[in-house]
Amino acid sequence: MLKPEIEDGQQSLADPQFRADVLAGLARRPRAIPARWFYDRRGSELFEAITDLPEYYPTRTEAGILATIGPELAGLVGAGRAVVEFGSGSSAKTPLLLRAVNPSAYVPIDISGEFLRASTQGLCADFPELLVLPMEADFMRPLTLPRTIGGAPKLGFFPGSTIGNMIPLAAVDLLRAMRASLGEGSMLLIGMDRIKGEDVLVPAYDDAAGVTAAFNLNLLERINRELDGTVPVAAFRHRAIWNDDRARIEMHLEAARNLDFSVDGRSFTMAAGDTIHTENSHKYGARDARILLRSGGWTPVHEWTDADGRFAVILAEAQAERPAP
Ligand code: TRP
Repeated sequence: MLKPEIEDGQQSLADPQFRADVLAGLARRPRAIPARWFYDRRGSELFEAITDLPEYYPTRTEAGILATIGPELAGLVGAGRAVVEFGSGSSAKTPLLLRAVNPSAYVPIDISGEFLRASTQGLCADFPELLVLPMEADFMRPLTLPRTIGGAPKLGFFPGSTIGNMIPLAAVDLLRAMRASLGEGSMLLIGMDRIKGEDVLVPAYDDAAGVTAAFNLNLLERINRELDGTVPVAAFRHRAIWNDDRARIEMHLEAARNLDFSVDGRSFTMAAGDTIHTENSHKYGARDARILLRSGGWTPVHEWTDADGRFAVILAEAQAERPAP
């Protein structure tokens, strides 16, 4: 998600929701700021850099899976579906899918219109015959798809283990919203990162070159830039920890010493070791993933993993509800 840049540090142009989320998040205990605010221009660039890091296996692992399953996937979903991508990425994954399933239309959905237009342009050049219908919308809510594709069977696409960035309650809400938007009989191709050793998980979110640290710390820079903040960024440390109880990587910004700062005229104090929680990345074992999907109204049909079982791509179907048992 690329947000419009603020010119010349004009704080008055800051998103009021950003201000409200930061002020509320710093006042609450535990301190937490929603991850969506990572993605200003610099944050989006740093995120792209993360996906290329040697330690960050998910992007290339998922792309590797998508590159090999084409014919099998095509057999399972059939040709002519309308592909609906939730949170259209700028990635190489979308062309892999489109080439495999030969869709009747492609509907990328993103909350950022600017980002949507940029990523859609390149795609139209690569697929001149394809009907592309971008939608600027919040995919967390049920949405009405363009009438043009009304009759076509749908294939939802939700790669990148983005479902893992939601707590399970929100993940199930989203899966149900997708079911409502796409309709019964539709299918969903979803990427989910698997549970694995901390020796692999933690470095993926705390790389040697410090790119993920810079990505996390950029949130503080953005607060200073856009919300008239005085946060001493150099006094914060990036932390990535594995929370085994919740099966998730957590990213925090930890105060290295006792410190004070202000944001938009309001004062805040943190003691050495206090943290601001900024991101979660939940991991799902094979059965966990299937239960999550079923909870959201999606029946798993097929799944693929890489040779090391690091990442899973799952195909599920919105089947008619049958009364138990
Ligand atoms: N969904 C991916 C993941 O959790 C990508 C991602 C989202 C990410 N937010 C992030 C990666 C923050 C690193 C840091 O891995």
